Amino acid sequence: VNLSQDELKKIAAYKAVEFVESGMVVGLGTGSTAKHAVDKIAELLHTGKLKNIIGIPTSKITHEQAVSLGIPLSDLNKHPIVDLSIDGADEVDQEMNLVKGRGGSLLREKMVEAASKKFIVIVDESKLVNYLGGSGLAMPVEIVPFCWEFTLKRLEMLFIEAGCVGKLRTVGENGEAYVTDNGNYIIDLYFKKDMGDLKAASDAILRLAGVVEHGMFIDMATTVIVAGKLGVSVTNK
Ligand code: A5P
Repeated sequence: VNLSQDELKKIAAYKAVEFVESGMVVGLGTGSTAKHAVDKIAELLHTGKLKNIIGIPTSKITHEQAVSLGIPLSDLNKHPIVDLSIDGADEVDQEMNLVKGRGGSLLREKMVEAASKKFIVIVDESKLVNYLGGSGLAMPVEIVPFCWEFTLKRLEMLFIEAGCVGKLRTVGENGEAYVTDNGNYIIDLYFKKDMGDLKAASDAILRLAGVVEHGMFIDMATTVIVAGKLGVSVTNK
């Protein structure tokens, strides 16, 4: 069978939902893959196969989706410990490190997923990379709007040797800055080469005043579910 990419996303998402148990506090991810998981959780709640789930959404859009589906919701203030989060990713390396945030929701995702006892990542096989940044697509960094060009230059300077180029994320045709759920901007970093030690790269980015958070999720995933043309695999840390 020739499954579409969206069907693969759905297979990974449904597999992850098998790990949700009644009574759990569940982190609800963002993006086209996580959306399928949220749909499935709602379906199981409605048929009574799951009971007493509390969802913690990772973005405004997932919040809206969950409300429209009738999933009971809370937040980290009231539920600081999340049993299980399920979310997509833009890149997954062999050590289960991730790039997230191409959809723009990296900060809330990271807050919820860092507070989770278990974090299941759901992807189709196109997201697998040899090293982060290796897909040639962006690694997003959420920054404050104040003097964003200055911060963009500082970010590029950190990774001169990796041939890093930063771009302000924009929307529409007049190039207006994309604004995150938290009122911030996003700089997309593109790398020509491996950025090297990820922990060092992460620390260097986070040390820049003006940076709020970046889209590398290092050592956070506890399970990765990959759906591919040949089947679905579940790998635990
Ligand atoms: C949202 O900002 C992201 O972190 C998503 O989780 C990620 O972009 C994956 O999205 P898709 O499932 O749509 O590829």
